[in-house]
Amino acid sequence: MNDVLGDWKRSHYCGQVTAAEIDKEVCLMGWVQRRRDHGGLIFIDLRDREGIVQLALDPDRDPEAHTKADKIRNEFVVAIRGKVSPRPEGTVNPKMKTGEIEVEVNDLRVLNTAKTPPFMLDEFSEVAENIRLKHRYLDLRRPTVQNNLMLRYQVTRTVRRYLDSQGFLDIETPVLTKSTPEGARDYLVPSRVNPGTFYALPQSPQLFKQLLMVSGFDRYFQIVRCFRDEDLRADRQPEFTQIDCEMSFVDQNDVIQVMEGMIASVFKETIGTEVTLPMARMTYEEALARYGVDNPDLRFGLELIELSDLVGSCGFKVFADAVKNGGMVKAINVKGGATQSRKDLDNLTEFVKIYGAKGLAWVKITEEGWQSPIAKFFTADELAALNQRMDAQQGDLLLFVADSYKVTNESLGRLRGHLGNKLGLAKQDDYKFAWITEFPLLEWDGEDRRHVAVHHPFTAPMDEDVPLLATEPGKARAKAYDLVLNGSEIGGGSIRIHDQAVQSQMFQLMGIGEEEARAKFGFLLDALEFGAPPHGGVAFGLDRLTMILTGSESIRDVIAFPKTQKATCLMSEAPGTVDEKQLRELHIRLAAKAK
Ligand code: AMO
Ligand code: AMP
Repeated sequence: MNDVLGDWKRSHYCGQVTAAEIDKEVCLMGWVQRRRDHGGLIFIDLRDREGIVQLALDPDRDPEAHTKADKIRNEFVVAIRGKVSPRPEGTVNPKMKTGEIEVEVNDLRVLNTAKTPPFMLDEFSEVAENIRLKHRYLDLRRPTVQNNLMLRYQVTRTVRRYLDSQGFLDIETPVLTKSTPEGARDYLVPSRVNPGTFYALPQSPQLFKQLLMVSGFDRYFQIVRCFRDEDLRADRQPEFTQIDCEMSFVDQNDVIQVMEGMIASVFKETIGTEVTLPMARMTYEEALARYGVDNPDLRFGLELIELSDLVGSCGFKVFADAVKNGGMVKAINVKGGATQSRKDLDNLTEFVKIYGAKGLAWVKITEEGWQSPIAKFFTADELAALNQRMDAQQGDLLLFVADSYKVTNESLGRLRGHLGNKLGLAKQDDYKFAWITEFPLLEWDGEDRRHVAVHHPFTAPMDEDVPLLATEPGKARAKAYDLVLNGSEIGGGSIRIHDQAVQSQMFQLMGIGEEEARAKFGFLLDALEFGAPPHGGVAFGLDRLTMILTGSESIRDVIAFPKTQKATCLMSEAPGTVDEKQLRELHIRLAAKAK
């Protein structure tokens, strides 16, 4: 028997004591959220993961419990026994699940004391994130973060059930492994028993899941940690979790169909939202033309309008030159946006400069027509044609970028997303999915002067584009697809190359010589020669998906123990230095001392 608890057994979670329990005896255990003294009568808000319940301690009913309660402070761990009763008239709190009742305490035990927490643990106090992360175990007591993690669990539970029903097997793959190219830097682990060699932590289980298909497992999944040493952003962590899937004897439509079912059941089970299937699909080319980016937020319009044909020989040199130099001019029409101040417009100009744009031309449509620093450069006919193309009405704000194809699309596309949020065009509880398809297979890396894979080097080209590999590889499209939700890439995958000759050709196109290919992926090339079935798959970012489902602004809000933007853990203080002996055993000598 446990000394502290004695024969006490918890009967309910705090948050589950409702009017249905009136007159029942309950035993509750939890943390003290708050204690209030009402001249003799003491009230305690007791909290556990399910919610908060009000305890009432009357000195006349149980003087001993009342005396103990007097010494109780916030965050003490307490057990009580008592009777559930209706709250007195006028004290009912309809906002609380337990707001109709209170528990009249007749016995109380302090299970543990607590120091004064470094910050208030209620929902409303604004605490700097670095302080919260340093004491994450306390921060995790707060209902929002707790609810986020509970919802995250509902996601993984639903995923497991769904994939199980579809015949997928959960198979683990190694964490100490060799580099898999997903475009980021590797985290390396030195080998003690093999001096001078390193394992790489997986950026994804890509190669292993393909090998499992070669082995005949047919349908694999894993909810798996991946590691990428890349620049961190609000929706990126150095270690994050993928819902990783692979299937044999399938084409792109088969993968998409199974995965749409999974996402729909996740939305239904976690937030009760019905997702309409099939989801929308859009080619990469169309996404760039209309939205400037390959992860468009489809909750609002504000589409990019191409104007190159109208301004190629106009009097505004910036526009005309962009077109003459093989670039383009595009614009967006912010309906009713003419009320934006000069300061707002300056800020928007600074925003597009982040993405390489040299400026942002603007036009306010007033009663008199164009109010703009660039109005003077256009003839009446040109103005009429531009107005018509952009459906410009009085009160609108037109924003233009003239630059290369890449810069114009990216800067204006990002500006579109920024304005969608800023102007409230994107509603939080609106969920707009789209599969982006027909990605380019390769892109040119100007720095390395070679082609690199847009998705990864194991992605198959589209059948009709295979001949292009020999002539214009940069034009070939891939059997690759991303799932985009509200402007966020929540998943990506492809049909893989299962033919060794095509795989070797791909490596060649990317300037990976035979020797290098053998050294890096020899085991895959070998396996492809032993009867590899046609196969393909996808991986979803569990953290990003959970962010959207919980409406969180930061990926850190859906991870129990996240890392900062500098890839550190403020609580455990990882990464840390190690002692000389450990380094010697690992055959490592440091070139730099830790700061
Ligand atoms: P990809 O690299 O597109 O594909 O990754 C799949 C999904 O993982 C999420 N993601 C991240 N989430 C948080 N932090 C990060 N640093 C991070 N990086 C990626 C994204 C992304 O869509 N092996 C392939 C999948 C396949 O082809 O089957 C892969 O890893 O939501
Ligand atoms: P300027 O003639 O350089 O004073 O520019 C006039 C307006 O055009 C300013 O509002 C600039 O921000 C804008 N501008 C300059 N370069 C570009 C560009 N490449 N694309 C769009 N607008 C531009």
